[in-house]
Amino acid sequence: MAYEKEKENAAAAAMELVEDGMTIGLGTGSTAKFFVEYLAEEVADGLVVKGVPTSEDTRRLAESLGIQLLPIEHVDRIHLTVDGADEVDDRAQLIKGGGAALLREKIIASASDLMAVIADPSKEVEVLGAFPLPVEVTPFGYTITAKKVFDALKAAGVSRPRIDVRTRSGNKPIVTDGGNYVLDCHCSVIPDAPKAAAHLAAVPGVVEHGLFIGLARTVIIGHEDGASMFEY
Ligand code: 5RP
Repeated sequence: MAYEKEKENAAAAAMELVEDGMTIGLGTGSTAKFFVEYLAEEVADGLVVKGVPTSEDTRRLAESLGIQLLPIEHVDRIHLTVDGADEVDDRAQLIKGGGAALLREKIIASASDLMAVIADPSKEVEVLGAFPLPVEVTPFGYTITAKKVFDALKAAGVSRPRIDVRTRSGNKPIVTDGGNYVLDCHCSVIPDAPKAAAHLAAVPGVVEHGLFIGLARTVIIGHEDGASMFEY
């Protein structure tokens, strides 16, 4: 895996934010996996925390490692969420959803006292948009929704968006944990991410989009020999 050490070091640094008794949102993806593994090591050594997984993959991983989990319906407060990102800019605005978990990730991040992003340096960008923006849509009417998503991105200043339905082998659309499809929106550059977020949120059939604006307040970038932590 590329940037393995950097991802692992970012995850290790996020352990500084963990305190006994916390309820913790557990992110999805290869970087978040390192965090779940570090957390499980501490739990085995006596740390008491409860986890709230952002995907079925993470639920299975955390369960297999002995982390106590809370069903989302039983959660009163999430003290901390630690999750990866596909892109992060210098205002801690994110693109997420490369692992198709954006809906649960955003619900859990938005319900958290603190969202900390852990990432390797390849995720740092000046302007969001090189990574195709994931947009989760209902299967019903998804071809119509895709056209509206195109219009919404154009209205938000994206010059030539291209939209693909995310598929697996056999060309079948992938289905998210929430039973939806994912549109990958190739934008190159998203000149005004908050504007794009507002336009996308207004499209009928869009369940959630992968622009995380104003949610992350701590960004941890891992390096080969450590990590840097930034507060926003
Ligand atoms: C999943 C996500 C991931 O956090 C994002 O794709 C980053 O993954 P990785 O740490 O494997 O690069 O948003 O939906």
